[in-house]
Amino acid sequence: MKSYNIAVVPGDGTGPEVIAEGLKVLNAAERRFGFTLATTAYDVGAGRYLATGETLPDSVLEEFRGHDAMFLGAIGDPRVTSGILEKGILLKLRFALDQYINLRPIRLYPGVDSPLKGKGPKDIDYCVVRENSGGLYTGMGGISRPDSDDAVATQVMTYTHEQVERCIRYAFEYARKYGKKARGVGEKNTLAMVGKSNVLTYVYQLWNRVFAEVGEEYPDVERQYFHVDATTLYMVASPEMFDVIVTENMFGDIITDLAAITQGGLGVSSGANINPHGVSMFEPIGGTAPMWTGKHAINPIAAIGAGAMMLEHLGETQAAQAITRAIASVTPKMKSQLANEMGYTTEQVGDMIAAAVAE
Ligand code: IPM
Ligand code: MN
Repeated sequence: MKSYNIAVVPGDGTGPEVIAEGLKVLNAAERRFGFTLATTAYDVGAGRYLATGETLPDSVLEEFRGHDAMFLGAIGDPRVTSGILEKGILLKLRFALDQYINLRPIRLYPGVDSPLKGKGPKDIDYCVVRENSGGLYTGMGGISRPDSDDAVATQVMTYTHEQVERCIRYAFEYARKYGKKARGVGEKNTLAMVGKSNVLTYVYQLWNRVFAEVGEEYPDVERQYFHVDATTLYMVASPEMFDVIVTENMFGDIITDLAAITQGGLGVSSGANINPHGVSMFEPIGGTAPMWTGKHAINPIAAIGAGAMMLEHLGETQAAQAITRAIASVTPKMKSQLANEMGYTTEQVGDMIAAAVAE
């Protein structure tokens, strides 16, 4: 039987609650599809930081390297100064494990309310491939005379050819495999590059060149380009025009939050930080939701969906699809995807989805 080593980081706030439901559903998939997940839980997050002052010890990072994948709940705490856990854990993991792709599928499950009037599951069904290692997140820059009226600050958008190339190549591969034609829901596979070539002329000279060059190798994928500002407008007015989007790090951060609300909000939004040749991490993108911690009110679907993404990544495609179908069979029964308004507890939603996977 195939077995995978999974590092589980439940984290803080509602993280452990949604991870428990995610694991419940993954266990149902293991039993039905005949593979095993050997999980090891790690105490990393605000809890550990507040108790010991440690963010991500190197020894723990080394242990993560020995796993097939990571499953993360959420990290954060209002008592910790903003930036410490982000830089010390989340971004450190991305950089150290070279998780250079941030994958964010945007899918409206049946019965889920979207704030986009008149748009249904057929219209909201695309994926954002966000570059996850460079750009403004590189952190190059500085500030001089910070406390004076002459203060000058810079933060530079940097990209190497290699960073751009590997991201764009991943996006073309993804569009070839999971584009609308490949999935049988459209006439063609399309990859749209989202940027700002009219202003960020140097960075986009590089991105455009590589997009065209790599694109030559993928005649089965149609290429498009949109400016990021226009993209936000299209994502609201005509989401059906998108298939796969590839974009740089900061633009990707911003547009995927907008995209998340169109798919019903943080309760249903899953994501992955991927190193195609290394250790990838799968997570609900909703954060720790301190207000709902311990109340059995948080929506576990985002974490359960992240589990499905993890299985797809590990090659357990049938099991991944079974989870996705199970989610889609449960969402129509729920009153809402908002915390505390689901009509069910966190555990009940997990139970229903696990039961649907087991069937
Ligand atoms: C995300 C988050 C992170 C980011 C933060 C927490 C560092 O917003 O995963 O989208 O900016 O990438
Ligand atoms: Mn973000």
